[in-house]
Amino acid sequence: MAIDRFPSSHILYGGDYNPDQWLDRPDILIKDIELMRQASINTVTLGVFAWAALEPLEGEFHLDWLQKTIAKLYQAGICTILATPSGARPRWLAERYPEVLRVDENRVRCLYGERHNHCYTSPVYRGKVAAINTRLAETFKDDPAVIMWHISNEYGGECHCDLCQDAFRRWVKDKYVDVGALNSAWWTPFWSHQYQSFDQVESPSPRGDTGLLGLNLDWKRFVTEQTADFMRKEIAALRNAGAQQPTTTNFMEDYLGLNYYVLGQDVDFISWDSYPRWHCGSDETAACKTAMQHDLMRSIRRKPFLLMESSPASVNWHEISRLKRPGVVETAALQAVGHGADAAMFFQMRQGRGGYEKFHGAVIDHYGGEDTRVFREVSETGRTLASLASVVQSEVKAPAAIVCDTESRWAMEAAAGPRNAGLPYKDMVLNCYRGLKRAALNVDVLNPQQSLDRYQLVVVPMLYMFQHGIEERLRAFVHSGGTLVLTCWSGIVNETDLCFEGGTPHGLMDVVGVRSTEIDALPDGVTNTMVAGPEVPFGHGRNYVWGNLGDIIELRGAKTLCTYGADFCAGMPALTENTFGAGTAYYVAADAEPVLYEDLFQYIVQFKDISRIVPHVPAGVYVTSRQYANREYVFASSFAQEDVRMELPDHARVLHGDSSGLLHPYQTVVWEQTLHHT
Ligand code: GAL
Repeated sequence: MAIDRFPSSHILYGGDYNPDQWLDRPDILIKDIELMRQASINTVTLGVFAWAALEPLEGEFHLDWLQKTIAKLYQAGICTILATPSGARPRWLAERYPEVLRVDENRVRCLYGERHNHCYTSPVYRGKVAAINTRLAETFKDDPAVIMWHISNEYGGECHCDLCQDAFRRWVKDKYVDVGALNSAWWTPFWSHQYQSFDQVESPSPRGDTGLLGLNLDWKRFVTEQTADFMRKEIAALRNAGAQQPTTTNFMEDYLGLNYYVLGQDVDFISWDSYPRWHCGSDETAACKTAMQHDLMRSIRRKPFLLMESSPASVNWHEISRLKRPGVVETAALQAVGHGADAAMFFQMRQGRGGYEKFHGAVIDHYGGEDTRVFREVSETGRTLASLASVVQSEVKAPAAIVCDTESRWAMEAAAGPRNAGLPYKDMVLNCYRGLKRAALNVDVLNPQQSLDRYQLVVVPMLYMFQHGIEERLRAFVHSGGTLVLTCWSGIVNETDLCFEGGTPHGLMDVVGVRSTEIDALPDGVTNTMVAGPEVPFGHGRNYVWGNLGDIIELRGAKTLCTYGADFCAGMPALTENTFGAGTAYYVAADAEPVLYEDLFQYIVQFKDISRIVPHVPAGVYVTSRQYANREYVFASSFAQEDVRMELPDHARVLHGDSSGLLHPYQTVVWEQTLHHT
């Protein structure tokens, strides 16, 4: 049973709190609660790595300290998101049951240590986790202070032990049934790798197979499935013990070890941990990446999500850990809320005195007082979020979507192909995203399995693998009037990385009106251009620079908008437009500079009458909105280096920030407008 209602009518504000590190210091809890109240903190995440304090010896449960802490916090108006502690285990568990320790790809078992390093298959580990989760659920299932379950922490990694190998073989057998089907799907005659039996299947290893691409892909799918299964068992233990509160698990930015879209289906709400590299390079780019991750996380379940972790100051694990400049804490929180988060949380509430994270930013630092810059900014942000409580009833509605697929990326990045020096995938996706945001659109970032029905514009950058019938849905989408922008190196392989026969982009050649006949890779630093022809309705004759990858395409009905500017392909089509059914499809044949996407999307938005949040977005500003009935809450955050001014509509009711729309760097203005898009 999925829970759709977020457990709060205000924005959750607070973060990871580790009283288990201070059990001999009762004065600290009292002091922290007082400071939290001052900072308008209303929620903490407890117990993430507290297993040893909860079960110091096997079967000996000590939950009283946790009960007391939760009760004291609640008396002060602070709710708890309670974690299951499976992310790190007590020593006794690994000592008594070595099978819980992970085995690496070289088949070497790890020693006890660190965190996030257990076997997801081990029946013992699953049993021990179920036991502690059951205890937690029995104790807190009816506690009004506990509003949500935080399942484990940042699931990730893989285990290659014998238990996992057996489970993988069963998984492969269930999927392919017949060993002949397996040999076809993984193309095993290449280098004589045919299997005679499923018993011969082994996970990829540098000591064995790394180049059997279908095996690699299915192994990664298995790891995701096994992790999801582990998580489902964690949740089942809570539910079987009667806990009804919603569940979440925290994801990481751009993490490729798991397919989060799959994992996200088994929790009630998505949450993620955001640690942008502010002030190291372009803050506008950091803001753009963060905005896109918010949209991606929201789109997994298309409902409110939680910003579960962010640092209130610097982190301690970037190569260079810079202090957040004044204003960034609040603007980052508002950016999350504007993109659909109903929670803006920190790691961590109080710095520990020792351990790896002792220098990680915290709301309360080693000094321990409220008279710090960070504490003041956190408190101010708390007041701002409290004043915006009404936005939690609203949701982000996007007319445009970008389709991204972790599995396609696994395949594309593992395939030896045109550019082993690095594919420009991440940058291309970001360039598309930035272009859509410059056009003042809300954007969903979708998995290929998700419906396209509600969108007017769908952008599909470098979708190397077509699976889940995406080509059929893109075809239907364009046919019924949608606008598609597809880029090079798309529709090349099927779900087990076998190349499509008969031409690419597979299944869409008539939709885009072109066939890609070859792909050229350019060395780093080498560029070519796309020359806008007289037919181009945007860009005023500008030549766009491209690099990295470029398709040679043959026209099959499409109209050429830009041609290549130089080299043997000079004069050949580089950007095309095709009418298909009631819709239009564009093919961008090369890895173009960002401004090409900006110009193209601005044009499409006007030409197709797609509703924008505001008519104009100044450079360096990101705009996002949430809607409720005929009201729209608009959030405009500036990451420009200079002051800029947002033009506010006449009827705007400013809820936060300067009422004239003036934005200093790292400031946000929030206003409410009647839903009447430009
Ligand atoms: C997260 C993790 C937290 C903490 C934080 C530090 O990835 O979930 O436990 O380690 O990083 O930034």
